[in-house]
Formats: sequence, C-alpha cells, structure tokens
Amino acid sequence: MLPTIEWQEDAVVMVDQRKLPGKEIYVNCRSVNDVAKAIKTMVIRGAPAIGVSAAMGLALGVKKSPASGTKALATEFYKNCDLLAGTRPTAVNLFWAIERMKVVFAELVNAGASVDEIRARLRTEAIRIHDEDVANCRQLGAHGATVVPEKARILTHCNAGALATAGYGTALGVIRGAIEAGKSVQVYADETRPFLQGARLTAWELVRDGIETTVITDNMAGALMRQGLIDMVVVGADRIAANGDTANKIGTYTVAVLAKEHGIPFYVAAPLSTIDLATPDGSHIPIEERNSKEVTHVGPTQMTPTGALIRNPAFDVTPAKYIAGIITERGVFAPPFIDTLPTAFKDNDKDKEPAGAGVAS
Ligand code: MRU
Repeated sequence: MLPTIEWQEDAVVMVDQRKLPGKEIYVNCRSVNDVAKAIKTMVIRGAPAIGVSAAMGLALGVKKSPASGTKALATEFYKNCDLLAGTRPTAVNLFWAIERMKVVFAELVNAGASVDEIRARLRTEAIRIHDEDVANCRQLGAHGATVVPEKARILTHCNAGALATAGYGTALGVIRGAIEAGKSVQVYADETRPFLQGARLTAWELVRDGIETTVITDNMAGALMRQGLIDMVVVGADRIAANGDTANKIGTYTVAVLAKEHGIPFYVAAPLSTIDLATPDGSHIPIEERNSKEVTHVGPTQMTPTGALIRNPAFDVTPAKYIAGIITERGVFAPPFIDTLPTAFKDNDKDKEPAGAGVAS
C-alpha cells in the first residue's frame, strides 16, 4: 500500500505530493508547525489524509512539548489545535479529527492523567484514526463495488485515492473494491486543473496498481460522455452537508451536471468523518480560495499576462439532486439524503450489518 503518512516516534513522515509523479520524496515533520505547514502547502492533501495529519500533528505536539504539568500542556495543546484548524477550511475531516483529539485530551485531564500518560494516549488515538481510515476506505470500497457494473468505464475527478486518505482511497477505493470483486474497470481521470491531482496523483496510483487509466483534460469529460464512453462517475468529498450537498475539488459540479444531462449515475464516496450533519446545506460550506499562482503558473512558467485578475476557488458544491448515492463504510445511501444520512450514524457497532440503504445504479 502507498505510504501516504506514517507515525514515527520522532516525526510524522509524509510522501511529498507536490513532487509526484516525478519524484518520490518523503518529508519528515518534526514539530506540529511542520505538520501545519505541510497541510497548508499541499505536501499532504485530500480530506481524510488532512484529518489524519492533524491528529498526528497534535500527538507530536504533546510528545515534543517541554511542559511538565498538565496545565501548561493544555495551553500548548489548544494552541496547536487552533494552528491546525487554521490550515485549510473546507475539508471537515480536519475539524473532526481535532475534535476527537480534544475529547480524548479533556477526558484524560479530567481523570487526572499525567503528562506522560496524555502523550502516550494521544499517540495511540492518532494511530487509531489512521488505521480506522484505512479500514473504513476498504469497507466503503466493498460497498461501492456493489453499484459498479460488471464492465465499467468510470470517470473520476481530482485524487480521492490512497494518497488522499491513510490508504486505499474513497473514490479509488470503490474502483479497487470493484476490481477485487472481479469486475472489469477502466478509469478516466480528469487532470483536475489547477493543481493536477488527477493527472499527477490519480494516474500515478492507478498505473502503479496496474489499473487501466486514461487521463483527459477537464474539458473533455462532456464529449466522452456524449460518445457513450462513461458508465458512471465516482468522486470523493471534502464535506457533505446534512442534505447531501457535497463540496469537492473545483470542477466536480461541472462533471455532475454533465453526468445528469447524459443519464450517467454520479456517486460520491466518503467516510462518515466527511459527513457534517451540523452543516444544513452546501451554502454553509466554507470554500477555500487558494494562491492565484496555482492558476497563473505551470511550474516556474507564467501562463497568464501580468495584470489579469485571477480566481482560484479550490472547491465547488454539487447539489444533492445530482447525486445518485453516497458510498460510505456503513453502506450506500440513497436520496433523500436528509433522511438517509443520519441513519449512518445511528449504530456504530462495527460488527453489525451496515445501515446503508441500497441504491439503484
Ligand atoms: O485540494 P485537495 O487536493 O486537498 O482536494 C482534494 C479533494 O477535493 C478530494 O477529492 C477530496 O478531499 C476527497 S479525498 C478522499
């Protein structure tokens, strides 16, 4: 499996996703500041991977803290939570992971735990968040496989793969799950301007796994759909609101509208940590505006004239009406999502049958 992120006792180690596919370089984050910088600068990206990074960053922060008492440790810990929460606004997994670490921290302090006990327990929790993410992706992949036709040409946007998670992937998890279930899958990967997560990362991962992958520029998707070359679309998500409206990489909305026009089912694959029932609909999801240089430049080369105004919203919102189903580790949820999504959270006993309601493909 791809080594997206790993806890090592003295550092959090990440593959530098800015350098792929040309170079496989690993970045050692030796402090919580390093982790925050890595998230902000896209060394690591993808909603679940950002959440795992934040959890490991917090564990690293308390591990490296010079504090000898819990009061000083708490001051530092909550400052680190704020630092990490300020890195990227859209992926709710970031806030989900920070909250989970906060709950553990508060319980330990209330129980009178020592500084060393807190350090050990936060380390365990961060690794648990990592391992659960891999397990959840595998489970959602198996559920997603059930809605993939026996022979499928699947379009995906951005990178919702092993690199965007602790491993295996969400949208690419569905593709991997379908192949493991014996289905024949060909992938079309949108290049995903401006950061090229599709061309660089999705294609790299899939080619490494021997999965047939065709990279297209974003503006080719409609033509391919019209020619009958796409059977389904599967994308990941950065935040899914209570009504099913889904924020994902810029361009996802365009793909969803095109899919609807051509009668192609459009699925979103995401773990429950991406579902934000506290956000009623997509209009409440904060959309990150990134540095204009991502648009103006390709590598060191400037592509636009100096003086041109630039917009670079990193995400868009796909209204729920375009989504055929939301694939999670608890099953595949059908519209109306406002009714079905809350049932995903009802029973978290992992040994029980998934709560998901099957959807028509
Ligand atoms: O800006 P990025 O690369 O972090 O955006 C990533 C995406 O939009 C992914 O599709 C999303 O996080 C799902 S990852 C499983």
